[in-house]
Amino acid sequence: MSDKNQSRDTFGSKFGVIAAAAGSAVGLGNIWKFPYIAGIYGGAAFLFVYLAFIVAIGLPVMLSELIIGRKSQRNAFGAFKVLAPGTPWKYIGILGVSAAFLILSFYGVVAGWSIQYIILSVKDGFSSKSPEEITSLFTALTESPVKPVILQLTFMLITGAIVIIGVKKGIEKYTKILMPVLVVILIGLSIKSVSLEGAKAGLDFLFKPDFSKLTGDGVLSALGHAFFTLSLGMGTLITYGSYISKNNNLVSTVIQVTIADTVIAILAGIAIFPAVFAFGIAPTEGPGLIFITLPNVFHQMPGGFVFSILFFVLLTVAALTSSISILEVVVAYFKEEFNMGRKGATYLATILISILGVLCSLSMGVLSPYTFFGLNFFDLMDWISANLLLPIGGLFIAVFVGWFFGRKKVREESANGGKLSGVALSAFIFLVKFIAPIAIAIVLMNKVGLLNF
Ligand code: PFF
Repeated sequence: MSDKNQSRDTFGSKFGVIAAAAGSAVGLGNIWKFPYIAGIYGGAAFLFVYLAFIVAIGLPVMLSELIIGRKSQRNAFGAFKVLAPGTPWKYIGILGVSAAFLILSFYGVVAGWSIQYIILSVKDGFSSKSPEEITSLFTALTESPVKPVILQLTFMLITGAIVIIGVKKGIEKYTKILMPVLVVILIGLSIKSVSLEGAKAGLDFLFKPDFSKLTGDGVLSALGHAFFTLSLGMGTLITYGSYISKNNNLVSTVIQVTIADTVIAILAGIAIFPAVFAFGIAPTEGPGLIFITLPNVFHQMPGGFVFSILFFVLLTVAALTSSISILEVVVAYFKEEFNMGRKGATYLATILISILGVLCSLSMGVLSPYTFFGLNFFDLMDWISANLLLPIGGLFIAVFVGWFFGRKKVREESANGGKLSGVALSAFIFLVKFIAPIAIAIVLMNKVGLLNF
């Protein structure tokens, strides 16, 4: 793998591109975060608003990022320096690199919890426990000052090790094997969950909308989550786009990745909500939803021992294929902008993010008295990145491609011989020029009270 700038890494095959981008998109966002925020914000109503944002904003912003990355052949910051030299556009890249720091800091903590739950599953640690004991198991873990920190650092070490190997040998190879396994396990779990007695209430909760339950905060969370789940707004797909070869069809990549990510989130919902309802657990449980409720579910289920191992392995694997893409944003930035080698850049990024991660982890326990706007450090990192930095980044990325990059260059970069033309090109330009920026601006202004819905 190359050091310095001379030769850039590239993905080796078409499937490698899809696997890497889908591996980035599918992660804790789909399996840990989507069910718990859908649970808090009303289930189906949240789901439908989120789906609308995925189509109207997610799809066009994803294509925009890939176009920017492949055209510029640079990292999230350098891309704007190449495409719009001497302008402040490059600061979008700084915003993105900052978001990567924030996201990976709490992401590593949740992935660490997941590793602990693999260990507990293997030890059959849930089967003799009462619901109360299972709840305190989770609370004790997250509040402990030592164990979750070690687990988070372990996860960061694995992430760093894969990123050091480099894009082709590391990211592409691993996601290629891991993604299909993940889909198979999730389908198995969904079939199991739907066949439980009382499962229908969970399916109703997930698919029958009651829009009266939806709040401004719910809509902002749906928008933030659309960005988070598709890995958009911080240059992950600018960075990955820069590794995509010139003859890859960007439009079909975008469509396939979006479908895969959405299907997996819905599958996670189908795997979780029917079971949650069947066993009388509150869907509004919050960030502990899967960790507190699923072990209860697993241990009352025939075959639950095997399912719980599979589930937490799946969660950790999904987290890993995403965390490597987040780390890569920072590594590519350090590598190209500060002329560092891949190894040095990865060490530096991993160490800095791990330090933030330790603070996130401790904020669940010993540092919990320290809050900002009523949020502990962990929740603050999550809130600022998903609900602020990603939508703002996405807004500027859409404006950049829609208004400054120019229709001709968009056609050139996305078409590869006329594949995106006519109606599709016009629709794409319309979405990035008007719909995406206006919709994001309205949701953000509503939040800060400049508009009131
Ligand atoms: N999309 C990932 C998930 O759903 O878990 C998280 C993520 C990855 C967010 C990469 C942002 C990003 F740039």
